[in-house]
Amino acid sequence: MLEIREGVFWTGAIDWNLRMFHGYSIPAGTTYNAYLLRDELPTLIDTVKHYGFPEMLGRIREVIDPREIRYIVSNHTEMDHSGAIDRLLQYCPEAEVVCSPKGAEELRRHYKRDWRLRVVQGGDTLDIGSRRLRFVMTPMVHWPDSMVTYSETDRILFPNDAFGQHYASHERFADEVPAGVVDAQAAKYYGNIVLPYGNQVVKALEAVGGLDIDMIAPSHGLIWRRPEDIARITGLYARWAAHQTDPRVVIVYDTMWHSTEAMARRLYECFTRENVPVVLMSLQATHISDVVTEILRSRMALFGTPILNSRMLPTMAGMLMYLKGLKPKKRLSWTFGSYGWSPIGFKEVEASLKEAGFEPAGEGKYIPFVPDEAELESLADAVAMLKAKLSA
Ligand SMILES: Cc1cc2nc3c(=O)[nH]c(=O)nc-3n(C[C@H](O)[C@H](O)[C@H](O)COP(=O)(O)O)c2cc1C
Ligand SMILES: [Fe+2]
Ligand SMILES: [Fe+2]
Repeated sequence: MLEIREGVFWTGAIDWNLRMFHGYSIPAGTTYNAYLLRDELPTLIDTVKHYGFPEMLGRIREVIDPREIRYIVSNHTEMDHSGAIDRLLQYCPEAEVVCSPKGAEELRRHYKRDWRLRVVQGGDTLDIGSRRLRFVMTPMVHWPDSMVTYSETDRILFPNDAFGQHYASHERFADEVPAGVVDAQAAKYYGNIVLPYGNQVVKALEAVGGLDIDMIAPSHGLIWRRPEDIARITGLYARWAAHQTDPRVVIVYDTMWHSTEAMARRLYECFTRENVPVVLMSLQATHISDVVTEILRSRMALFGTPILNSRMLPTMAGMLMYLKGLKPKKRLSWTFGSYGWSPIGFKEVEASLKEAGFEPAGEGKYIPFVPDEAELESLADAVAMLKAKLSA
């Protein structure tokens, strides 16, 4: 039994072995956090992915008989949080499912069931005995239905997907693992899930800014409870939402016969010599979700691909399509690669990066077939130009 605050229990499920979460790689697994508030009208805040139901039920049973549950708050309809509601309702058929207006529509679209819904608006409160819960609408963080629940009595914010991390662990609190580990997971989560919704994050931060928060208990990963940790994660969200970056460079590439790779390596060496922080990522070795984590904090990204049948490599196409959806802002890009007889395919790379929201840092560099030493040397000039743009 895990009591995170008097009368507030973590009753989630740990997904130790999941490695891919809707296309995002999660080497450390994840958790689905459900929270049980033991009160006159016992309330569960969110549930878990469908197969986590037995684990959640077992944890609830350690605290109360599940038949006593009166409210199940569904902050967000995505199935990693709502997937166990239907089975839980078999134990507490009288319970009401508390959700936003959009949540009501989405729950019906997902489950085709006639649950007892209690639809709440932003600012509504719900008394569950000694506690009062308040609901704040946070549309698009992560879906149109998303809301957060705040326990006024406990001063705990239950923000669902916001401030979460895909991280399975025995520990439940962010201060129990090294800060670097949890921050890196929170960054990967933000970059791959929340990045397109920076404006909505700013609004959500404003909406919860007026609340007196002692604890942030998200629906994935670790709970933030020390004042310095709460300040750090909310500060990071403000920074990421404002698209603030460091003067760093990410070089991402793929290659068939190693010519584009030779260019990538030379570019990397030049930046290193210039003391510019740089990372080199081959799409054959690196998942696109890890590239995004680097792009999140970097002001500049370089994209290299050879031409295959007049086009960029499909791995790069996948990378750029992903970025078009994530829409990073206030970042520079530059393109390079090797081709055989027609560089026309690079136009599509350049256009895709503009569409994704990058500002071109300059003319790209494209070399026919295998680059010679003089051509590789010329990349030093490109790096000098890019370095100037990076610090401009
Ligand atoms: C299957 C295949 C298809 C290719 N199609 C084109 C093409 O349509 N247009 C072109 O300019 N070069 C094309 N090339 C040539 C490559 O772009 C060229 O070999 C380049 O140097 C490969 O760079 P890499 O070593 O980084 O893979 C093709 C090469 C291969 C192997
Ligand atoms: Fe979600
Ligand atoms: Fe989620």
